[in-house]
Amino acid sequence: MTVARRDLLLGSAVVGLAGGIAPVRAFAAKGSPVDGTGALPMPAPTNVLPAALPVQDAARVLMDRGWLFHEGDIEPAPLDSHNATYISVKAGNARGAAAVDYDDSDWQAVELPHDWASFQPFVKTANVAQGYRPRGIGWYRRSFRLDPALQGRRIELEFGGVATFATIWVNGSVVAHNFSGYNAIRIDLTPFARFGDEPNIVAVRVDAEAMEGWWYEGAGLYRHVWLADYAPVSIATDGVHCDPRKADDGWHIPITATLTSIAPVDSAVTVEARLLDPQGKVVAQGQVPASVRSLDEASATLDLRVTDPMLWSIEQPTLYTVQVRLLREGQVADERRVAVGFRTIRFDAAQGFFLNDKPVKLKGVCLHQDHAGVGTAIPDALIGWRLERLKAMGCNAVRSSHNAPTPELLDWCDRLGLVVMDENRQFNPAPEYRAQLEWLVRRDRNHPCVILWSVFNEEPMQGTPSGVEMVKRMAHWVRALDDSRPVTAAMNGAFFDPVNVAQVVDVTGFNYYQGDYDRYHRLNPTKPMTSSEDTSAFMTRGAFESDPARHIASSYDDEAASWGATHRAAWKAIADRPFVAGGFVWTGFDYHGEPTPYEWPTIASFFGIMDLCGFPKTAFDIHRAAWVDDRPVVAIAPHWSWPGREGKPVKVMVLSNAERVVLRLNGKTMGEAAVDRLMGNEWTVPYAPGRIEAIAYRGGQEVARAAHETVGVPVALRLTPARTVMAGDTEDAQAITIDAVDAKGRHVPTANLMTRFTIEGGAIIGVGNGDPNSHEPEKGNQRSLFNGLAQMIVRPDTGRGRITIRATADGLKPATLKLDRLGVAPRAQVPVVAGDMDVRDWRRSPLMVDKPSPDLAPATSDNNGWAFVRAGTPTPAEGAGWRVYRTVVTPKRAVAARGGEIRFASVGGLASLWVDGQMVADKRDPKPGPMTATLLSGVNKRIIALIVAGMGNIESGLLGRVTVAPR
Ligand code: GAL
Repeated sequence: MTVARRDLLLGSAVVGLAGGIAPVRAFAAKGSPVDGTGALPMPAPTNVLPAALPVQDAARVLMDRGWLFHEGDIEPAPLDSHNATYISVKAGNARGAAAVDYDDSDWQAVELPHDWASFQPFVKTANVAQGYRPRGIGWYRRSFRLDPALQGRRIELEFGGVATFATIWVNGSVVAHNFSGYNAIRIDLTPFARFGDEPNIVAVRVDAEAMEGWWYEGAGLYRHVWLADYAPVSIATDGVHCDPRKADDGWHIPITATLTSIAPVDSAVTVEARLLDPQGKVVAQGQVPASVRSLDEASATLDLRVTDPMLWSIEQPTLYTVQVRLLREGQVADERRVAVGFRTIRFDAAQGFFLNDKPVKLKGVCLHQDHAGVGTAIPDALIGWRLERLKAMGCNAVRSSHNAPTPELLDWCDRLGLVVMDENRQFNPAPEYRAQLEWLVRRDRNHPCVILWSVFNEEPMQGTPSGVEMVKRMAHWVRALDDSRPVTAAMNGAFFDPVNVAQVVDVTGFNYYQGDYDRYHRLNPTKPMTSSEDTSAFMTRGAFESDPARHIASSYDDEAASWGATHRAAWKAIADRPFVAGGFVWTGFDYHGEPTPYEWPTIASFFGIMDLCGFPKTAFDIHRAAWVDDRPVVAIAPHWSWPGREGKPVKVMVLSNAERVVLRLNGKTMGEAAVDRLMGNEWTVPYAPGRIEAIAYRGGQEVARAAHETVGVPVALRLTPARTVMAGDTEDAQAITIDAVDAKGRHVPTANLMTRFTIEGGAIIGVGNGDPNSHEPEKGNQRSLFNGLAQMIVRPDTGRGRITIRATADGLKPATLKLDRLGVAPRAQVPVVAGDMDVRDWRRSPLMVDKPSPDLAPATSDNNGWAFVRAGTPTPAEGAGWRVYRTVVTPKRAVAARGGEIRFASVGGLASLWVDGQMVADKRDPKPGPMTATLLSGVNKRIIALIVAGMGNIESGLLGRVTVAPR
């Protein structure tokens, strides 16, 4: 079998950026997954890996592996002396779990992305909006080494997003307090870094009691973490702005590169930019000199011009690459590769949105970052898969509600041809929140997919002078960073108030209030407007009868929130009005939390066009019929297995984009009608087992057909992947569908039985079934089918091989699925170091004429007589005399249990080593050399004293690392 990543298939020179347009898997009409005659309501598997996401900055290395996690808070021990208090507030001396020396040996090893809330049970007393999952506080730690060759380089650590409030320490110094779960946290590690064998320790305390939303937000390090090292003069992170513009004389790419320097002297550099076409060919280039002062920033600007580039569009999302290189003394010191697209956007008050001067109705959905089984910790590949599902439905727009998306989502949207309303979380112009907003714009402003900045969602101050002042400022800051995209605010009222924020944004965003569209347009005929949110309808996937007592909403599209509308009515209101640019359905997928209209025991929402797993509800076909223009669509609801309902009326909906549709039951025509593309066609049919079929015609020709058959009892399980291949690169993931089939191999839409799984060659990182009322755990190796379907999320082991998954259920024939695990090189990860404990901090006595006692110690509160010294800092040659180096070691678990060794890599001078007053080693050669002593098992603190005789003319003392290692 020939398999490859899609970009490699394209043979591109620019891996990952080269217009690797993922073919969107359509729901074909005939013999297709939706025809109900055996296959699933899901696309057929492919045998191609998705293309790797673009690498913008090759200096960044992932730090997703090797984390240790502790659930719950850890209070440091009380400070029991003045001296301990004095020391505790000094740089590098964080206490408790933030301390460099903290014993984390019993913490749990985890990999990122990690959402600890997704492991929690559902608890009635926990917050309803967050899906009844306890959140709490958690700690993470990670150690890593930095090569001594990196000294002098700029080292940066980035957390893509931490839910929710985070405090971060590096090597015992607090380096960040962050008060949002949705912005990246960037830390200049340069001054804190240690090089060589001594590990760097990152500790993160995450306070997920804090909430920023009324939906499930997950908890912990749920996005990637990166470590990067840059030349002393380098390009700042998000420091390239290169968004193409169309001018009268053709296309330009105005480029601004922000440069930053930690070089000891002012530096002269050259910034070079090249535009690469999708095949990697250079089509434009330029360069400009720049100078950067030491410890300062500077910017370099240049303009590339290109005639007649291929445009980026929804149908053909062609990506070019801007390569920006920083040259210093003729050498490439830094480089970024930014995917760009040539497209124009425009919102018109009368005609809506234009992409490349063509009107495009925004057929959008709102998304939270959340999926069955994994919560907010969605692997990149699964994010892509979710977006492909939307695209297959004819969706062309997503709104990242109500926060900055994970950056990979935008990479996928660039590639798939989905436009994005990029939304800010905190409505607040105070400096900290201004920084979050500006970060969002800087990070995302090169993405061709981004077409709108939304400064807020539904803020009660939207109709007040104060709210207007806030939006004015926020919009101004956005425009200062990006003058090419309009600013909106997703309002839920105040549209007609004398003072309201719509007056200071470019596009009015309507959340609901669809009945006010016409009046607003009449009163504001020059103001562009879009629905920023609509619908909020309820459906339980696969259920066709509402049952409020059991918290079930029918999938006939007949239930909606009082402030919303059914899928069909909401879209009709938008589709009928050219002046409404488009809409964003609340929501594309169900999500945990906000379990409207029901509460406990319901734990997830009913709003999705698809359920939590991405299994389509009837809403999927409703939107497919309304939104897909380029291929025929026909679908039928409900399924056709209703034992006991023989002769009784069943409502049948046919959704199609054709001209006419005929409905047949067991070959007999039950109805025929002109297609109502937006509202669907409905018939009431007396139920008879057999085959119900809808045949769609255009110009008198059959163009599509869909059918459901009455199926028998389940006899076997089936496992269906999205792809038959996975990358053995440590990161790939995919959703695999479990269903039950009857004796003829047909999907049984009513099966609700428990299924159990085993896997070899991979791991199951989550399970789900789309039932908003289920309290089954989302981790583990079993899950009930819900209305016929369940899902597991699989992550492959590393390297080439096989993944074998087996599913069993009582009384059914088991299913076995074999997937090929391809030998795809993993992205580099910062190596994990198994750390011995460093004994860093010592007190050093003054120089003494006589040999001191090993018991000699600084007086209480002496912070001046005895020096504070770090292991590895030699005491200068200073004449003959004695000194005591003293510290206290608290053995970590392994040493306490088994005993260990204290190892001095290098001691200068004659020396004797004492542990708790006993001499344990003696060094009789003054030349630098190692010393080692045994530490007996036991939890007690050990007083370590090293008595050193300086020999006059050589450096002495703790010349190297001191470590404690278990036996
Ligand atoms: C909107 C809100 C969404 C969600 C939705 C439910 O008001 O913006 O976040 O809560 O209602 O209908």
